[in-house]
Amino acid sequence: MDPLLPFVPHVAIFPFPAQGHVNSMLKLAQLLSLSNFHISFLVTIDTHDRLLNHTDVMSRFSSEFHLQALPHGISMDEINTRDGVSKLYDSLNTIAKPFLREFLVNSPVTCVIADGILSMAADVAEEINLPIIYFRTISACAFWSYFCIPALIQAGELPLKENAMDLTVTKVKGMEDFLRGRDLPSFCRASDLTSPDFRLLMTETQQTARARGLILNTFEDLEGPILSQIRTVCPNIYTIGAVHALLKARLATKSTSSNSLWQEDESCMSWLDMHPPKSVIYVSFGSIAGVTKEDLLEFWYGLVNSEQKFLWVMRPDLIIGQEEKCQIPVELEQGTKERGYMADWVPQEKVLAHTAIGGFLTHSGWNSTLESIVEGVPMICWPRFADQQVNSRFVSEVWKMGLDIKDTCDRDIIGKSIRDLMEKRIGEFLQRAEHMASLGKRAVNEGGSSYVNLDRLIQDIRLMIPPMRQS
Ligand code: UDX
Repeated sequence: MDPLLPFVPHVAIFPFPAQGHVNSMLKLAQLLSLSNFHISFLVTIDTHDRLLNHTDVMSRFSSEFHLQALPHGISMDEINTRDGVSKLYDSLNTIAKPFLREFLVNSPVTCVIADGILSMAADVAEEINLPIIYFRTISACAFWSYFCIPALIQAGELPLKENAMDLTVTKVKGMEDFLRGRDLPSFCRASDLTSPDFRLLMTETQQTARARGLILNTFEDLEGPILSQIRTVCPNIYTIGAVHALLKARLATKSTSSNSLWQEDESCMSWLDMHPPKSVIYVSFGSIAGVTKEDLLEFWYGLVNSEQKFLWVMRPDLIIGQEEKCQIPVELEQGTKERGYMADWVPQEKVLAHTAIGGFLTHSGWNSTLESIVEGVPMICWPRFADQQVNSRFVSEVWKMGLDIKDTCDRDIIGKSIRDLMEKRIGEFLQRAEHMASLGKRAVNEGGSSYVNLDRLIQDIRLMIPPMRQS
């Protein structure tokens, strides 16, 4: 580092290697680059190659941007298996951690922004005396319920007792009136609280205060009361969400480049163009969750029987344990031809912004939820795992912009929920959704809470001057 040249912050950004995490952290990278920061973005080889193949990532940065692949041997392939989370962390600890240390020691990085579930990055940063900030890519409400797990255990509310799924839990402060056993993060359903996956997810969250600050992809008007609770244990929070909307606002553009790890099928956009406003329900279960063949058929019947138009993301790996092609009943083939459109992977942000979309049947991943909130699209939530159980409860009970059908999978309930969302109760849900969307827009525009918090984050990183520059 030449002490005579003006100081330019260089930030190493290290996301957990999954689509939702990479997406929001790459948007932050772009936002920081607009302030001319240099960025090193560390990803697994698989993500590295997918980003190069399916996106224009290398051409969208105005300042120095380096997409750094981690060594071979870290993969998300087994994440849905028993102890899959622990296996992934083993490889992160044995392969990514030493690599990160070596990388940081030999680079001009001045600050690390690591995913808030990668405490190995905090170990390294502390060891070599580099400032670290965490970015937790889930909602504040999910983060806070993860954080309160030790209190739930101490109070005897975990492990969940038989028949406790529908009882409210008392030890997640600020949610006592509405958070039931079934709304806790999915891994709280484990009967064995000593399982490695459970311990790991709990202890990662407990370590948040090690970082100098916590970035959250949410906004104050959406989760203010819960953020106040989090501030009692992590006072320095930067709420900069919805980060994709903040990027659009800063670039003054209607849409930004996608960070998709799969090839997007743009043809669905022309199909949407043929439909009137708010007439299509969009269906997607995110990037990781699998669905059994039985559940898939219930959804399919529910959709076809609802007689609404639908656009459905059918990821090639969506059906669990499906080696051979599944036999589709004729009535479903026919109903899909008449009213549906299926794609392997779509440009979701653009889809949700399309006037034809009137509802979103979602797994309640946090990116999907925020993208829907910002576009004012009411939701039907069918959460699968982790934070999704909490998000869906907030959609239905706190923000009141949709229905939560967790733990059911029945064609009649699905069909009725779709008709309720798209027809019968459309007025009530739309009014709430449009209100939340306007608050979301206000947050990212000049003077809004997320706009101001990003500026504060940028300022704080600028002040992290390495010791050799401080004289
Ligand atoms: C999961 C969690 O549920 C999420 O809350 C957590 O933060 C990360 O792990 P995922 O299943 O990927 O995430 O869901 P989500 O957070 O909703 O992210 C999916 C992303 O993929 C969204 O940004 C969405 O726009 C994008 N997507 C999805 C597409 O671009 N095209 C598609 O066809 C489907």
